[in-house]
Amino acid sequence: MDNIFLIGFMGCGKSTVAACLQEQYEMQVIEMDQVIAESQEMSIPDIFEKRGEAYFRDLETALLNEMKTRGGQVVSCGGGVVLREENVDIMKESGTVVLLTAKPETILKRVMEDDGRPILKGKKTVEEIEKLMEVRREKYEKAADFIVSTDNKKIRKIAEEIMNQLKGESVC
Ligand code: S3P
Repeated sequence: MDNIFLIGFMGCGKSTVAACLQEQYEMQVIEMDQVIAESQEMSIPDIFEKRGEAYFRDLETALLNEMKTRGGQVVSCGGGVVLREENVDIMKESGTVVLLTAKPETILKRVMEDDGRPILKGKKTVEEIEKLMEVRREKYEKAADFIVSTDNKKIRKIAEEIMNQLKGESVC
């Protein structure tokens, strides 16, 4: 069975939707950031600060490669996995890539109180988020097999939409 990769900008709802898929559909979930932080025994901000972003990105690629050997997992990806084309190729080889989207205003509300995202340090304004989203937009859209918007939707509805789309693609 194929994996399902949830991609999208920070705060677009990947982890929440993955948790819902786990609860509602008994799917197995891999939280990439959590697995990486545990393997390094360090928080994501500490990995960025002490080892640098490139080191973190290498860990992401290694973990995605590992996912190729497993199947049937929902992989809640870090928001930056699409930055490397290699990562997109790896995901495409082992599953379906689902892009979750949200408006910058929605993102800001969701990330405001959280200091766990080094990329957004000092950039928690709608304008900065919009700018960063714009830089990444093409990569997200190119990587996606299909797109689900999360603005003003209940989590269960988003999970349902994903499952319906996947059924249409006869992935599960
Ligand atoms: C990042 C997103 C984060 C985390 C890291 C870098 C990014 O994950 O992987 O802070 O570059 O967009 P979330 O999208 O789960 O916040």
